[in-house]
Amino acid sequence: MRLDVVTIFPEYLEPLNVSLVGKARARGRLDVHVHDLRQWTYDRHNTVDDTPYGGGPGMVMKTEPWGDALDSVLADGYEAGAGEPALIVPTPSGRPFTQDVAVQLSERPWLIFTPARYEGIDRRVVDEYATRMPVNEVSIGDYVLAGGEAAVLVVTEAVARLLPGVLGNAESHRDDSFAPGAMANLLEGPVYTKPPAWRGRDIPDVLLSGHHGKIARWRRDEALRRTTANRPDLIERCGPEAFDKKDREMLSILGWEPDPEGALHGRFWRRTPGVEQ
Ligand code: ADE
Repeated sequence: MRLDVVTIFPEYLEPLNVSLVGKARARGRLDVHVHDLRQWTYDRHNTVDDTPYGGGPGMVMKTEPWGDALDSVLADGYEAGAGEPALIVPTPSGRPFTQDVAVQLSERPWLIFTPARYEGIDRRVVDEYATRMPVNEVSIGDYVLAGGEAAVLVVTEAVARLLPGVLGNAESHRDDSFAPGAMANLLEGPVYTKPPAWRGRDIPDVLLSGHHGKIARWRRDEALRRTTANRPDLIERCGPEAFDKKDREMLSILGWEPDPEGALHGRFWRRTPGVEQ
């Protein structure tokens, strides 16, 4: 997979040289190109922004540097045989970046990221390139960062670990929290390693039992416990058939029950009224 990032802070992308993404690059699974947007400015001050039409606070990134940068990146990638590009525009106004989106992006040969600073990029840039390639405006969460570079790191790491040959074990991400296609999207429960006793804290006995069925059941129960506590919205969204008998028993212990009116509003599970969580 080829990645291009155009930014006014190339040094912000240094983490792409380390850890998992760095390894993916070293193994030849990822071909990363970071570009300084100011390379495509031609005035003395290397201007990339200007005041917004219509007034208002902040500055807007100008069309010309982005247009020239993207034309150049596209020409270079096509020449190198990078395949069909997709433009990834990190913005708090984008669609939520989820594991599903990460999986979809991991199947593409070439991603071009345009992290913006200030109030964002002149809209005409996205409109222009949307006529030539798929454009994904993605938000990594409901908060506003000072720029999109951190979002590029987030998206890149989530995508890179899905590429074949990057994680040692091909099954490693099958059980990820949020892995698509799972019956119910549950958060993963706690994990433990040696030593077996630490500061008076022991490992749950079941994990030492060697009984695979019991261990699987315990992990599932802990996933239900953590999900009801931290992401009740994920439980509410599960269909009526998402949970087996043992799941339902655990949910009942945790103070959850099927919502008798689920079919009306699409949330099939609810906290049992009057039961403390
Ligand atoms: N740029 C600023 N905030 C952002 C967010 N939440 N997600 C993606 N890009 C951003």
